[in-house]
Amino acid sequence: MKDGLLIEASSASKILLEETKDSKEEASEDLSLMAKEGHEVNSSIDRGISHQFILHEDEHFYGLGDHTGPIDLRGYKKECWNSDNPAAQVDTFLSMYKSFPFFIIRKGNDYLGLYLDNTFKTIFDFGLDEKTFSFSFKEGPDDFYLFYGPTLKELLAAFTKATGRMSLPPRWSLGYGQCRWSYHNEAELESVIEGYKKADIPVTTLYLDIDYMDGYRVFTTSEKSFPHFASYLASLHSRGYKVITIIDPGVKEDKGYSIYDEGMKNGYFATYKGKTYVNEVWPGRSVYPSFNNADVRKWWGDNVGLLSSQGVDGVWCDMNEPASFRGPLPDDVLFGKEEHKEIHNVYGYYMAEATYEGLKGHTAKRPFVITRACFTGASKFTSVWTGDNQSIYDHLRLAIPQQLSLGLSGMPFVGTDIGGFGGDTTKELLCRWIELGAFSPLFRNHSAAGTKRQEPYYFDKETIDIYRKWVNFRYQLTPYMYDLFYNHLSTGLPPLRPLFMEFPDDASIANLNTEFMLGPSILVSPVLSSGENNVLLKLPQGRWINFFDMSESKNGGIYALDASLSECPVYIRSGSIIPLFEKGYTNIDKTPDTLTLLLFPGEGSYIHYEDAGDGYGYIKGEYNLYEFTNHDGSLTYRLLHEGYRRYKKIIARSLSGETTLLP
Ligand code: GLC
Repeated sequence: MKDGLLIEASSASKILLEETKDSKEEASEDLSLMAKEGHEVNSSIDRGISHQFILHEDEHFYGLGDHTGPIDLRGYKKECWNSDNPAAQVDTFLSMYKSFPFFIIRKGNDYLGLYLDNTFKTIFDFGLDEKTFSFSFKEGPDDFYLFYGPTLKELLAAFTKATGRMSLPPRWSLGYGQCRWSYHNEAELESVIEGYKKADIPVTTLYLDIDYMDGYRVFTTSEKSFPHFASYLASLHSRGYKVITIIDPGVKEDKGYSIYDEGMKNGYFATYKGKTYVNEVWPGRSVYPSFNNADVRKWWGDNVGLLSSQGVDGVWCDMNEPASFRGPLPDDVLFGKEEHKEIHNVYGYYMAEATYEGLKGHTAKRPFVITRACFTGASKFTSVWTGDNQSIYDHLRLAIPQQLSLGLSGMPFVGTDIGGFGGDTTKELLCRWIELGAFSPLFRNHSAAGTKRQEPYYFDKETIDIYRKWVNFRYQLTPYMYDLFYNHLSTGLPPLRPLFMEFPDDASIANLNTEFMLGPSILVSPVLSSGENNVLLKLPQGRWINFFDMSESKNGGIYALDASLSECPVYIRSGSIIPLFEKGYTNIDKTPDTLTLLLFPGEGSYIHYEDAGDGYGYIKGEYNLYEFTNHDGSLTYRLLHEGYRRYKKIIARSLSGETTLLP
């Protein structure tokens, strides 16, 4: 070690982290031949400052935001360097679109988090040599923070308190969304609406990908495709739909285009060797706003505000790694005074911040932003999707550790492109993906231009029936999902959780990548392979009840279960209360009059939050908070806070029947 300090973080009498005194051996192999053939060479040889720690047998590593491979990073090397790599993502990918230089070490039942406060490229080696783990970087501050649990939940509470939590999203953002690159005009969108209507599948959000713009010029709309943009959006609203539009950071180099002209006049774009820096993205030659500058963010936000004043409900930020078609941006491109190599990883973070603040400043509604690239702490402004996956089973499987790892890094609102983005999906894959996706906060089907159409109504009746079943199920689950965001506010915990977060004593689930929990109660074990109409279900200690048939229960253990194409095994922790809205609930803007509580056998209690679903009334106390208690099938409750009009009816359903309360 060069100039670091010896760290020993200990709990009671245990040492949790021991920095080695020796510097790591530099790679000595000659890799130049490999590089010549185009192979990526091991970039650990780039290391400048390195902190290396002793690796113990009982240690596991989690977090680091979105990464490929299993949830336990032990034995893997990854980099934080936001990357738009269009190849099919595989375990050996060093980096993805986002950077979260934060990882969690699990040692027995102790959890320790390490956040490296450095936005430059950082490298994490979780034990390639089987003896040590390390992180390293060539530039940037040698500042890192340790967060001690001892439990994982306490650790995440402390970490998200320091880096920021997501405030309540609008409830509609939890509804189902249909996207495609691209719906080119009103007629195409109308045909999507028609398709869903005929299939009798609810849809809340319609997405407009890049082709709604005029020649991909950000903040414009195409006169030809959407001649009456604002009034068309108003018509969609009147029919209950929300609209999310994409925006990209790359501004077309085009004199006479107001965004380009204003940015040039004010010096808002990145420069290189004294001139505005130009690379290429969808609009062709494009320039890059310096989002790290507060004035640029304000200007961008004002333009987002104009978009929202035309009726856009949410904004989707893409290509903000930043992506570039003419090779990577040189390290020393200047964003204001700061170099690209420092700004790169936070470019998406700042773009999301600018977008969020723009929405917030221009409407009384809760902003909703989705981003592809970001950095630690971005959940204050945005949700994320995992970028361009492919319609392959490997990526259906990857969706579980990806989303869980994001949650373990402080990002609660996550989702994958349902059905897969690139490549042609199949009936079976789409069905399996909707079963998994129905539990993701961001619930969106999206596919690339040129691929087989992926809207469910392009498939046969069986697919449509299965798809409808799961989309309807998700709408019913809205209050539980919304409660999890309320819970995130006070605990920092994500809705999607690895099993070990809820069952820390079970060492056998430390690297379980095929199941997940939604909140504390719902365990989901989807079918993840083609031709397999069964799953190997692993249930932690305790009693578990089949969500769809309360009379069927199992004890902790491993079970081979049948799961036909329409089925996804879902088991509930005994004593749980699951709040549902009634069948047919799809108008997600509306808080319904009836709440149904499923009381699963056993004892337990549950906090439920009710408000208008949008706006900021809740900050002034306009919400209700209920504490429900399940006494093995019978319900009692207390109102912990009353500030909003209450449900007219609360139905409690258990094995012994149904009772109705009129609160
Ligand atoms: C990027 C996005 C994708 C989008 C496409 C066109 O590939 O990741 O979601 O559809 O650009 O805008």
